[in-house]
Amino acid sequence: MYFFEKILEGDFMAENKKPVIIVQISDIHVGEVHFVPSLLTRAIDEINELNPDIVIITGDLTANGFRREYDTVKNYLSPIKCKNLIVQPGNHDSRNVGYIHFEDIYGERYRSFDYNNIKILAADSSEPDLDNGQIGREYYKWIKNEFSNTSGNETFKIFTMHHHLLPVPNTGRERNILNDAGDVLEVLVDSKVDLVLCGHKHVPYIWRIEDILMITAGTVSCLRLRGKIEPNYNIIYIYDDKIDIFRRFPFDKIEKIEGIKRSPVKERLNAQFTKESK
Ligand SMILES: [Fe+2]
Ligand SMILES: [Fe+2]
Repeated sequence: MYFFEKILEGDFMAENKKPVIIVQISDIHVGEVHFVPSLLTRAIDEINELNPDIVIITGDLTANGFRREYDTVKNYLSPIKCKNLIVQPGNHDSRNVGYIHFEDIYGERYRSFDYNNIKILAADSSEPDLDNGQIGREYYKWIKNEFSNTSGNETFKIFTMHHHLLPVPNTGRERNILNDAGDVLEVLVDSKVDLVLCGHKHVPYIWRIEDILMITAGTVSCLRLRGKIEPNYNIIYIYDDKIDIFRRFPFDKIEKIEGIKRSPVKERLNAQFTKESK
């Protein structure tokens, strides 16, 4: 029996309603010499045992965006039992016009998804043949509209994309955040987003800025690693009043942060400046 099943069976469940369980995996990189199939198949076994409500894959499924790589990764992912699978492209997937194959297999690159009291917007931050990314001004309205069409503070709002919104330590020279990171950050804060999920540099990290948790996943199955980081993926339990985050390393350990309080009232600090006349 897996660790997570034990948690759900204990007294813990009685005091807090059943959580929504989200798994985030990222940066699979099928087609690279550093791709390790057993890490991915093991992670999928672990995920199926956990039986999450939603699985999100935050890009870089392939190495070069080739059709053959897309077909291979599709076969690897087919055993995932979770019906709510959200897949989005990364910079590697948009190489060589690979986004066309992405659309053939996974559909829209910008998606809105509702599950109980959770709203997820998945946006394509990749640019064809470029490693850096952006969301772009033309999508800010879409983000604002989608998040405003929710039932107020009760909705837990999640924004997912491949690139980083904030710098992450131990990723070397900074070139990984969105070209329009500041503007996107403001749109997300104004939209009262609760959680941002990213991938990209294969270094897991978590920041909290204003009232948004920003979780970056490592790579689940690629040995193109930095420093001492090992392949891993994220498991997020969303309760009515709190969030638990587990970082799981296939075949190996689990790191966790439990009991992060949800903050229903959000206000951008910068909006609190008042003017004082001379
Ligand atoms: Fe990657
Ligand atoms: Fe990437």
